[in-house]
Amino acid sequence: MADYFAVQGGKPLEGTIRVQGSKNAVLPILAACLLVKGETVLHHCPMISDVEDTLLLLRKLGCLVQREGHTVRIDSTDAADLSLCDGTASTMRSSVLFLGALLGRFGHAEVPKPGGCAIGARPIDLHLAAFRQMGVCCEEKEASIYCHANTLAGAKISLPLPSVGATENILLLAAVAPGTTIVHGAAKEPEVQALAEFLNLCGANIYGTGTDTIRIEGVGRLQSGHCEYMIPPDRMVAGTLLCAAAMTGGRICLKNGRAEELEVPLRLLEETGCRIFIRPEEILLAAPKRLCGGCTIATGAYPAFPTDLQPLFMSLLTLADGTCMINETIFEARFSHALELCAMGADIRIRGQSAVITGQKKLHGACVYGQDLRAGAALLIAALAAEGESRVYGCRFLDRGYEDPQAVFGALGGTLIRKREKTII
Ligand code: UD1
Repeated sequence: MADYFAVQGGKPLEGTIRVQGSKNAVLPILAACLLVKGETVLHHCPMISDVEDTLLLLRKLGCLVQREGHTVRIDSTDAADLSLCDGTASTMRSSVLFLGALLGRFGHAEVPKPGGCAIGARPIDLHLAAFRQMGVCCEEKEASIYCHANTLAGAKISLPLPSVGATENILLLAAVAPGTTIVHGAAKEPEVQALAEFLNLCGANIYGTGTDTIRIEGVGRLQSGHCEYMIPPDRMVAGTLLCAAAMTGGRICLKNGRAEELEVPLRLLEETGCRIFIRPEEILLAAPKRLCGGCTIATGAYPAFPTDLQPLFMSLLTLADGTCMINETIFEARFSHALELCAMGADIRIRGQSAVITGQKKLHGACVYGQDLRAGAALLIAALAAEGESRVYGCRFLDRGYEDPQAVFGALGGTLIRKREKTII
């Protein structure tokens, strides 16, 4: 059975909305809860399948997990050092973040090999190289990665590229490993900063996040007691909503939008003719009659343009007046949405890691399939802007990161219904 969104497009999206909690911030923080003795309370946890799957992993490890709406309570006092090599973990890339947390808690860890995914090969060599520097033995088995350490020690680590996941795994382990760890070439993403903020709240000593050099003074087990943290708003969902309003000719106010985390995307939206107004914890966008083309986008590590918003901006630019160029520098296979957008009337030419988009006056409804999370979101906003009816398949990918798109876009005036198709095999 495949779920899809039946979308009746062509209406401007208008209104005020609060942005859900950040997927990429909450996932490493959930893994970090294993390092905390006692209860952790996380507010503003998004209701998305990646979070539910991670909560299942924590339960499997013996943590007490309770969810009341967007608040999640986790008590890891009785967590056990089990392998995560079956079921849920093998379908989740982010289970690799449990390596650092489990190693920090138990001195050993086994997680399924993450393998490639729809957007690229996504190796974890940098995570493992950093662990080895901290005294960890890492064995790559056929389907899993087993790491163990007799004695952990802080280390000087230079990352050849600022991997978000590797930086987070290092933070998780170094927060509790004896000694000082210095990470040069660290990722500066706000989600890395959120993880450090959470760990520090629980008693870790992490300095310098948001710059490319991070220093961590290991403290052994994190403090027992009561750690309470508010998950920040999701900048990728904020970007999605802004693109949706821009491409449907609408107006939107993001109640808890953080403009400082979206500097480059906001500048690009202005280049397309959108008017942007920034207030504390609020972003307003008013779309022009017709979007202007002519821009060039290159994805890069923060604070450069985020690869996760590349599909959304490609979607937006299919309706801009003129030609635009997108260079994808982070993931090697992240243009699956282009062909689907072409089925809706877009003109996109792909050559290697570059896409040339010649804007059209309009898109038309079509039956399309989003092959990954952001590709699905890009197609959904294209369908909301297109004339006529569309079917957007790939809901299971959207579910990983977007809370109830029907309610969110519906509240802004979009017409979409989630439906279930019964297929006979
Ligand atoms: C995280 C985000 C993802 C985002 C990406 C880039 C989460 C849960 N996911 O993914 O949404 O698109 O950052 O901003 O936070 N690399 C290596 N070896 C490694 C690790 C990474 O070569 O050991 C390469 C990757 O193939 C990629 C680049 O480094 O080309 C960036 O990857 P990375 O920052 O690690 O992305 P993730 O942490 O997987």
